[in-house]
Amino acid sequence: MKRSLIYLSIMCACLSVGARLHAIEMLPTFGDIDHIHLPALLVQHADGDQSLQLRAQDTTYLDHAQYKETVIRTQDIVQPFYVTLHVRQYKEVDITETWYEIRHTEKKPVRLQRFDSGYLPIEGDDPHLLHLHGNWAAEGVPTVERLTRGVKSIRNTDGARNAHLDAPEVMISLDGVPQENYGRVLGAALCWSGNFEIRVAATDEKGFHFYAGIDPMASEYILEPKQTFTTPHLAYTYSTEGMGGVSRAFHRWARNCGMMHNGNATRNILLNSWEGIYFDITEERIIAMMNDIASFGGELFVMDDGWFGSKYPRNNDSSSLGDWVVDTRKLPNGLKALTDAARERHIQFGIWIEPEAVNTTSELFEKHPEWVLQERGRELKLGRGGTQLVLDMTNPKVQDFVFNLVDTLLTNNPEIVYIKWDANASIQNCGSTYLPRDKQSNLYVDYHLGLIKTLERIRAKYPNVTIQNCASGGGRANYGLMPYFDEFWVSDNNDALQRVYIQWGTSYFFPSNAMAQHIGGSPYLMTGRTTPIKFRCDVAMSGRLGMELQPAHMTETERAQCTTAIHDYKALRELIQLGNLYRLVSPYEPVPVVEKQQVASLMYINDNKDHAVLFAYGLSSFMKQASRRIRLAGLDPTRTYTLTERNIRHGEQPCALHGQSFTGAYLMSVGLDIPLSTEYAIDYPSRIFELK
Ligand code: DGJ
Repeated sequence: MKRSLIYLSIMCACLSVGARLHAIEMLPTFGDIDHIHLPALLVQHADGDQSLQLRAQDTTYLDHAQYKETVIRTQDIVQPFYVTLHVRQYKEVDITETWYEIRHTEKKPVRLQRFDSGYLPIEGDDPHLLHLHGNWAAEGVPTVERLTRGVKSIRNTDGARNAHLDAPEVMISLDGVPQENYGRVLGAALCWSGNFEIRVAATDEKGFHFYAGIDPMASEYILEPKQTFTTPHLAYTYSTEGMGGVSRAFHRWARNCGMMHNGNATRNILLNSWEGIYFDITEERIIAMMNDIASFGGELFVMDDGWFGSKYPRNNDSSSLGDWVVDTRKLPNGLKALTDAARERHIQFGIWIEPEAVNTTSELFEKHPEWVLQERGRELKLGRGGTQLVLDMTNPKVQDFVFNLVDTLLTNNPEIVYIKWDANASIQNCGSTYLPRDKQSNLYVDYHLGLIKTLERIRAKYPNVTIQNCASGGGRANYGLMPYFDEFWVSDNNDALQRVYIQWGTSYFFPSNAMAQHIGGSPYLMTGRTTPIKFRCDVAMSGRLGMELQPAHMTETERAQCTTAIHDYKALRELIQLGNLYRLVSPYEPVPVVEKQQVASLMYINDNKDHAVLFAYGLSSFMKQASRRIRLAGLDPTRTYTLTERNIRHGEQPCALHGQSFTGAYLMSVGLDIPLSTEYAIDYPSRIFELK
């Protein structure tokens, strides 16, 4: 039986025609709740009335192959104002989604002032909130705090991207600090890519009230008569297996239906050109990089920024966005020469675009200055490179432009199998020349609806192209956009040590085959840190493996290690990308590092529990430091597992654990003493073991 949100289904089943929606239990609306509680829905009717008292009209039950859905139609008792509540419960995974459709037939437009996607009362002995707070190049830092009286609000107001700072996914542990493998934890993700607000309110003595939806700042939505506004979906799960249980439910749901249709397929191993050559693209360099990735055993090459621009060549970030034509000074034989070269090397080809953006130095801006977001009569605020602006995705002509750009690229170059879709700007100019003056406050919402509409068109025509969702790294890692994307670039920070942390937080909600993790260069350009190639490979191998460096600068040892890593990854790929994740030791776990080694460890196991892979990373190295035992999880206690060390350090023999067998019970209760530190401290040691 489904554990999550049972009360929602019970309540749905109990609703009779005319029944009050038990306002504070299902959809608290302003005008139907007492003064103590906050509304999830607040509107101003055409005649100025601000009350909403919804009553059920009828309930429909849908039985779909993947889910059951309860649909409750309601109507206000005074105004011709209608809200349809949807509660969808998935059959194969413990996830429930809620959302509302709002419509009216009043004489003039209605102003939606607050329109959350879901509401949930929460009772717990000592509820704690976990949310991901981060920044560019430092995404996904888990922040845990006790919920106290008053209102806690998590918001993001970037406008275009919503996962760099505060992300739209949270967990709430009911009984104290959330634990990894036990305890009652609720997980929620707002499936939206724009501004949001998640609130937990303790306004009465009874418990807590959870709300999540589009952020109301500058976003009063003007709804015309007979127009339907559909709120984003809010996806919930509830687990008694701690944060790990919540993560596994989200991963399974994402693979089945939360991301582009092939969420259950494995991804290719690629080399991306960005951190290797930046804007310095030439045909010769690109083909040399293709030779390299092919020789390592990789399967795909992705040409990043810098390949386009005719009147204005894209030599840095200050020009050319919008001019999506090949720069023939750099690529005299066009993209065809590159796709031919890829085919000849038995690899595939992918390309970078940033479709929603334009530079003021571009032919597009010269032709269509009205297409950029702008506040009438005010100076434009410019972004990246001092010249970047965001196109007005509310405008159907701009939507056509973006669709045609992708369509032309893929029609003219049918061998492009992968697109990296970047978005490097916030909405700084919050105005549209397309939207009427009295609907400027629809912009923050309509931007994303326009983007989604365009992505739907692209996906209808190109369902099989792999599209990476990138926004200066992980700025758009959210379930609002993932239904149109196959994966996302986890962070612009590719420093292997910090990646252990960033990937850790990101894995709370996103599955490993969606997480693009690339072996980077060393010393790493952003942090200056030097890390061994083995550590860089092992860190990248725990997700969708790729490379992002200049192979021409690699040593022979580095090349050999990467070849081994790619070879071994292929053998483990299905397990890593589609297996069930168990996080074992958190890099955030406080330890007295000089005495005890700071470690991070995680594992994936298949559904049959007969095949697993374990990753262990040493994050600190001091002489005579005590090593850490790592206790595994999720295994079958009665089975015996044999360990094989993988991606062995170039020139070394496997460690003493290689070839040894243990029962699942032993591995989970006693654990493994993994040789991460030796008598001589090695910086950034790591090990990977396959268990069969
Ligand atoms: C930001 C992305 O996150 C990088 O990976 C790279 O694609 C650059 N943009 C290119 O301008």
